[in-house]
Amino acid sequence: MTRRAILEDPDPRLRLPSEPVDRFDASLAQLVEDLCDTLYAGSAIGLSAPQIDDRRRVLVMDLSRQRTAPQVFVNPTILSRGAARGLVEESCLSLPGVSAKVMRAVQLRAAARDAAGRPFERDLADMEAVCLQHEMDHLDGVLFTDRLSLLRRLGLRLVAGRASRAAA
Ligand code: NI
Repeated sequence: MTRRAILEDPDPRLRLPSEPVDRFDASLAQLVEDLCDTLYAGSAIGLSAPQIDDRRRVLVMDLSRQRTAPQVFVNPTILSRGAARGLVEESCLSLPGVSAKVMRAVQLRAAARDAAGRPFERDLADMEAVCLQHEMDHLDGVLFTDRLSLLRRLGLRLVAGRASRAAA
């Protein structure tokens, strides 16, 4: 069991784009295991590789009640989004203490590979759809607060916090 340290904003490593996985080897299996161990050590529903300082396009999520059904997405893509969008409250292990509602598609069809390299497609709805989009953003160096208006970010003191840190 390896619980890895989670990078927190404003760590610049969270802003780097991740690279597609082309080797489905023991190193990838270890990454998936570490992601699951780190996810289950806390109460979050999803975790992406860049949050534990690994630049591969991998994420895990588990929205099951018992937290015994991890979903592993390697090289995920979104094939289609439904027209319906919703405002759902989000938080992030890399932004402790911050939560806000983000507008996202609430129905989508995703494609990815599993840890063994087998391709699959899956329909996701509601929180699962939101979670996948949130974790996929991490693979592109995007945090959920980037998707809020400037006014909302000011309300969360994210802009002010950055400014005061920069001035310190
Ligand atoms: Ni996050």
